[in-house]
Amino acid sequence: MQISFTLNGKPATVDVGAATLVTELLREHLNLTGTHIGCDTSQCGACVVHLDGLAVKSCTLLAPALEGRSLVTIEGLQSAPGSNRLHPMQEAFREHHGLQCGFCTPGMVMTAVALADGKPGLTEAEVRHGLEGNICRCTGYQNIVLAVMAGAAAMHGAASGE
Ligand code: FES
Ligand code: FES
Repeated sequence: MQISFTLNGKPATVDVGAATLVTELLREHLNLTGTHIGCDTSQCGACVVHLDGLAVKSCTLLAPALEGRSLVTIEGLQSAPGSNRLHPMQEAFREHHGLQCGFCTPGMVMTAVALADGKPGLTEAEVRHGLEGNICRCTGYQNIVLAVMAGAAAMHGAASGE
């Protein structure tokens, strides 16, 4: 079937099977490999993308559900429309050493941006609760939490690309 949706701010029309997962569509058909697959069972959060501004796990989302909707992947995050600079949340992860191997990082960043949207003063408890669906095998989480708090503060001093 053919579906049309907005992908990272641009119109997209693709042919997909009825059982195609969004992770498969992104990675294998559209070459957007920043969305990672860690478990394929909705546990790890490595595959988080934004669907109409909400964080969703794309390994449990069927591609036909994208029809008419807006999808943003880690590749689509920008500091401002048309900018090549990193999003403030990405800058915060770099600044606060919120990653080691980086496998979980795209999903962490996408979850964090959705969590911080409209919330300038995230507490540590809110960040830890908000990241419960994202697993990191490397960092012990402390620097991720610090990065998300800093990124949330920075987002509300800088325009998001969404
Ligand atoms: Fe989707 Fe792990 S790959 S939650
Ligand atoms: Fe390696 Fe999180 S940085 S899994």
